[in-house]
Amino acid sequence: MTAEMTLPPTNTRTIDWAALREDFPILHQRVHGRPLLYLDNAATTQKPRAVLDALCGYYERDNANVHRGVHELSNRATAAYEGARERAARFLNARRSEEIIFTRGTTEGINLVANTWGAKHLQSGDVILLTEMEHHSNIVPWQLLAGRTGARLAFLPITGDEGLLDLSRLDEWLTTDVKLLAFTHISNTLGTINPAAQLCSQARQRGIVTLVDAAQSAGHRPLDVQAIGCDFLALSGHKMCGPTGSGVLYGRIERLADMPPWHGGGDMIESVDYHHSTWKQPPHKFEAGTPNIAGAIALAAAMDYLDAVGRDKIAQHDEELGAYAFERLTALKGLRLLGPRLGRAGVVSFMLGDIHAHDVVTFADQAGIALRGGHHCNQPLMKKLGLESTSRASFYLYNTTDEIDRLTETLREIQKYFTTASAPSA
Ligand code: ALA
Repeated sequence: MTAEMTLPPTNTRTIDWAALREDFPILHQRVHGRPLLYLDNAATTQKPRAVLDALCGYYERDNANVHRGVHELSNRATAAYEGARERAARFLNARRSEEIIFTRGTTEGINLVANTWGAKHLQSGDVILLTEMEHHSNIVPWQLLAGRTGARLAFLPITGDEGLLDLSRLDEWLTTDVKLLAFTHISNTLGTINPAAQLCSQARQRGIVTLVDAAQSAGHRPLDVQAIGCDFLALSGHKMCGPTGSGVLYGRIERLADMPPWHGGGDMIESVDYHHSTWKQPPHKFEAGTPNIAGAIALAAAMDYLDAVGRDKIAQHDEELGAYAFERLTALKGLRLLGPRLGRAGVVSFMLGDIHAHDVVTFADQAGIALRGGHHCNQPLMKKLGLESTSRASFYLYNTTDEIDRLTETLREIQKYFTTASAPSA
């Protein structure tokens, strides 16, 4: 570690982060002859044995449909699925488990809010306030809604490469036309950690509904929806040690009760006749069809795993890795690094001189290192920063500073290769 680390030790229990790798079977492999170094955690995280066992165990012992049968397996599956809902409520400190809707992930959660709360409450002239650092999943659903309702989008500005929200003029942005403020908690490109509670508090004082995109934060730090004070919060299971196709939308119960259903079908109804149907109460009103039962149960196992490690400790580790990477990478000549220097999450996006991001990630892959290169589903942000793409390293609880040293050395080799390759011959 460098002497410039800024985070004080906040606890006495130390964790051997490298030892946690034993819990993740996939990490023990070689890629192109080199030990795998997985640094694409903002795209998806790896899964610990406890989660894999929960997934397999459900299919091996309990698989049956939920809420429909009275036979033993169906009762077991229903108990485990509804138990997962209660687990998710505790994970987020929701007031009650009815505030937890299982989804396929953050994208589906945001689309659900747009198509239910948004379709009912927004009209021509209303403003949906987002930020300039949003992922496409927190832009496109609102564009579609705006196209149908006549509402329009506005974007809270960021401060350039440093990637902080310019909050000095937040009050001016929260006009009476703004009906919804939807923002990312942690930027998947910049590594910025936005002040969720402050944003929600200022919006709430003006009667503005709030939605937090917690895709990058849910598995990385403690989350308390009551302390944040949001109306909605969406997360993805696969970015927090859970399975793909699993996720949660938290909604304040008063909001959910007031929203029409989105998808229609089995299990969400109270009664149906040929021309008319009535709905169940939330959350079941929003879960049509057979849900991802195994996914919800395994996501609950992921929550158990993260809490056993300690989400406060994971947050500290994340910020230490982010700060360490920032220091190590900025020492590379010609490197442009996005996002704040201090108080950042474990995500670093960079341009290595004028070497294309796809060349960087292809060479890194040959060295056994998994990075992401591209626009990271942040095309508007890229355009704002005058970029088409960046390379990105994103960390999680099983990553270490030694691995960041290996990444730095590999980037140095890539730089050397391209400098030599592009040098004019004598
Ligand atoms: N949103 C994911 C990422 O940032 C896919 O890579």
